[in-house]
Amino acid sequence: MAINKVKGTYDVLPNESHKWIKLEKDIRDILSLYHIREIRTPMMEYSNVFHRDSEGSDMVTKETYNFVDRSNRALTLRPEGTAGVIRSYVEQKLYTSQELEKVYYIGPNFRYERPQKGRYRQFYQFGVEAIGAVDAALDAEIIILAYDFINRLGLKGVKVRVNTLGDEASRIAYQKALVNHFEPYKDELCNDCKIRIDKNPLRILDCKIDHKHPSVKSAPTPLDLLNEVSKSYFDEVVSYLDVAGISYEIAPKLVRGLDYYSHTVFEIEANIEGFGAQNVLGGGGRYQNLVKELGGPDLGGIGFAFGMERLLMAIEASKLEYSKDLELDCFVITMNQPLKKIATKLLYDLRSEQFVADMNYTAKGFKGQFKQALRLEAKYIVILGEEEFQKGVASIKDTRTEIQEEVKLEDVVTYLKHKLEK
Ligand code: HAM
Repeated sequence: MAINKVKGTYDVLPNESHKWIKLEKDIRDILSLYHIREIRTPMMEYSNVFHRDSEGSDMVTKETYNFVDRSNRALTLRPEGTAGVIRSYVEQKLYTSQELEKVYYIGPNFRYERPQKGRYRQFYQFGVEAIGAVDAALDAEIIILAYDFINRLGLKGVKVRVNTLGDEASRIAYQKALVNHFEPYKDELCNDCKIRIDKNPLRILDCKIDHKHPSVKSAPTPLDLLNEVSKSYFDEVVSYLDVAGISYEIAPKLVRGLDYYSHTVFEIEANIEGFGAQNVLGGGGRYQNLVKELGGPDLGGIGFAFGMERLLMAIEASKLEYSKDLELDCFVITMNQPLKKIATKLLYDLRSEQFVADMNYTAKGFKGQFKQALRLEAKYIVILGEEEFQKGVASIKDTRTEIQEEVKLEDVVTYLKHKLEK
């Protein structure tokens, strides 16, 4: 039986991994400018970290990978990063050491979604959370960071869309307005949405079945029902964005697909030709109840996450020269077993000088090894042949100029050092 990868997963092959390495490096470099440190939390958590009473999104109710372990514990593979980070923040009492804890994370998440281009069942997110403060300036900083990040990657045609859901009171008022709005259309909506009207009307707005129903298009927006406090908070967030001079647009219909949000929400959308349907690169927002719900103090936070596959797709679609595969400085060819010993020592010495060096291990003939060196795009080929050995030299070929020179064995490293450093 052929064994295949799990549906909705993918392999990053050796000739593609340089893109991931570069993206992760960029993330770490940019995040350090914002004085944000990394947090690493487990990929599995007790199920109630995600399956909280208040969380009724599709992502949590229908798309999580749940299982019981051998001791009958209910566990879930994380479908997103935020809840696990907050679990850790609360459990490790990080709120006692810092007023504001800012962290970032990079790692795989799991959602049982219908796979398509840009949508997988295991996918990577890079995310940021700033926990412990409610301040419009902080909301703005997080949005500015997301924007700055995209810009530094060199992505053009990316839009930042911002909205607010308001505080608890505004949210309740908005939910009521949605119930009143959708009630007359109840019979026309899908079975899930019929239940959502009473339980969680906000989720009708991003229902995968009903999102094109006219009643969804004509539904009230959160902005219509904001109270004064929420409105002035949002105005302040926006005024900070204006001061920073970043470009964004207010998207009154943006509500996000998770239930923990209140106040500011935002998404980053790619409008790049040939990008495809899954054009939301990332999104986030403020959460005021999550810390308390997971057993911590009454503290709010704000964060976002980008899908890393989608970032790489955007880089590809933008035809950016983003990263280079590993370059081979030198490939050593040997003609017999004893010469392999010399080659082994030579490789060790070359690597000590920080050169990328390799040789053949499959006992191919000269021609085969030479072809291999060219295929690997080695800059230099060092040939250790019988004849050379008698003379105490190696032949070194520059694959670009095709010039070949004989160099004393003990001078090979110095010779290559000189050539490669030019
Ligand atoms: P989210 O919108 O569910 O938010 O996911 C963030 C990003 O992850 C999406 O914009 C998308 O790029 C990527 N993504 C989501 N699902 C998939 C998938 N199946 N395949 C590929 N990429 C995917 C969150 O997860 C929140 N935790 C963000 C956040 C952090 N809010 C506050 N803090």
